[in-house]
This record gives sequence, C-alpha cells and structure tokens, in this order.
Amino acid sequence: MKTKDLIIHMHNVSWRNGGRDILRDIDWTVKKGEHWALVGLNGSGKTTLLNIVNGYLWPSKGEVSVLGREFGKYDIRELRKKIGWISSSLQEKFYAGETAEEIVLSGRSATIGLYEKPKAKDIENADRLLRRFKCSPVAQLPYWTLSQGEKQKVLIARALAGSARLLVMDEPCEGLDVIARERILSLIELMNRGASAPTLIYVSHRIEEILPVFTHTLLLRRGRIHSQGKTGEVLTRRNLSDFFETPVDIRWRNHRAYLHI
Ligand SMILES: Nc1ncnc2c1ncn2[C@@H]1O[C@H](COP(=O)(O)OP(=O)(O)OP(=O)(O)O)[C@@H](O)[C@H]1O
Ligand SMILES: [Mg+2]
Repeated sequence: MKTKDLIIHMHNVSWRNGGRDILRDIDWTVKKGEHWALVGLNGSGKTTLLNIVNGYLWPSKGEVSVLGREFGKYDIRELRKKIGWISSSLQEKFYAGETAEEIVLSGRSATIGLYEKPKAKDIENADRLLRRFKCSPVAQLPYWTLSQGEKQKVLIARALAGSARLLVMDEPCEGLDVIARERILSLIELMNRGASAPTLIYVSHRIEEILPVFTHTLLLRRGRIHSQGKTGEVLTRRNLSDFFETPVDIRWRNHRAYLHI
C-alpha cells in the first residue's frame, strides 16, 4: 500500500494522564476510500483519540501518522489545514463573536479567524453553501446567537468550503432535534460525492447515526478497542451485546442499524 493511501495509521498508541491510561494499545488504520464511525459510551476516549489525530495531543507511547505524515517529523500546522473538524463543544470557544459567513469563509484557509481580506469569489462560494444549508437568514449574525442546528450546519459548510482531505466529526448531531439530526445526516451522506471527497470520521454514541456511507466501524470501550472492521460485521447482535455488556437486539432498516435494549 502506498503511504499516500494511508489516511490514519496508529500503532500501539497509548495516552496516559493523571496516572490513568485514557487510551491503551490502539492499533487503527484508515485507508483511502474508507469512512469510519467511532462508537463508545461517555468517557470511553473518543474525543481523546480525535485529539491525537488532530495533533492537539501527543500520545505517551506508540506511532501515529496522518495523511501519510509521521507525527514529530512534520509541521502539524500545515497538516491541520487538510483536516476539517466539526465538534459542538470545541468550536464554541473559537467562534463566539464571528458571523456565520465569516466562519464559512475561514474554511478556505483552515485558520481560526479571518486574517486576510476575502476574495469576491470566496464570499460567493460561502454564501452559496449557506444557501444550500438554508442558513442565509443567519449569515450575518454572530455565531453564539445561532441555534445548535444552525451552528452545526455552519461548521459543515465551513468544512466544505475548504479543501479538507480528512473530515473529523465529533458528535455533530448532539443536541439536535430528530428532524434536524436527519437533515445533518443527509448532508454528511452528500459529502461522499466526487473524486475529491474527504475521508470521513464520525464519532457518536448512537448506533442509529451510522449511515451506510460508513464502511467501517470501531468500537471503543474504556480506552481500548473492543472491535473494529466492516460495519456490517461489527454491528451484530452478538458483538454489540458483548460491547455493551448487556443483551441488545439490532434491526436493520434502509442499511442502518437500530439498537433495542
Ligand atoms: N486532558 C485530560 N486530562 C485528563 N483526563 C482527561 C483529559 N481529557 C479527557 N480525559 C479523561 O479521559 C476519559 C475519556 O474522555 P473523552 O473525552 O475522550 O471521552 P469521550 O469518549 O469523548 O466521551 P463523551 O462521549 O462523553 O464525549 C475521561 O474519563 C476524561 O475524564
Ligand atoms: Mg467526546
């Protein structure tokens, strides 16, 4: 396999903090053409794992390469420009006062904030994306005034405005009503179009959110990988019952798995 086809490669990765192993012995490879769902209960280490992918955290042990670049041998800021990041908790801090339009525009350079004067064609593109997400009415409003669903859509639009090769989504449907959730999920599904479509990593603790676009699934439990592989092989009644440590049933509808406890 060529290095450039390796989107994420982790070998024997652990992260220790406060005398605790938050992540332990993680071996995970994401190849070009795959899209991964990451599932785990609260506190299982999902966000920590993503923070390692983004280079916000350094593993205490093990090797990590992202988009073919080995950590420690490459300027992480350059790499971050190719990684889109959608997370409800994190962005709040960065974007409070900026308008929705400014946030989408900043996706072009993948910087937080907007330092250069934007070009007319970039503004046009940002407005087109906001229209597509039915967010034109809030384009000039500060981010903190938007509803949860509007915020998430603005962040997805921002990711689409850039040239991300890897798009990491940390519970993008958190706090959304059922209609808004389905809308966001169908937007995510649309991102898999075209030759330049980014590799998607989707984190959730809800099995129902694993769309057919996610070819692979990784189950994380107490900082360790419980199981990983093709989604259909991971999301079985037997495997999920073992994972949740309680008997569960699984029903498939429209290529999506629904969990019954
Ligand atoms: N910077 C840190 N220092 C110490 N412990 C941390 C740090 N960040 C996370 N943890 C701990 O690591 C564990 C995993 O946290 P993490 O945020 O990765 O979980 P998660 O799977 O994303 O959970 P959730 O579904 O609630 O978002 C938690 O017990 C948390 O308290
Ligand atoms: Mg989390």
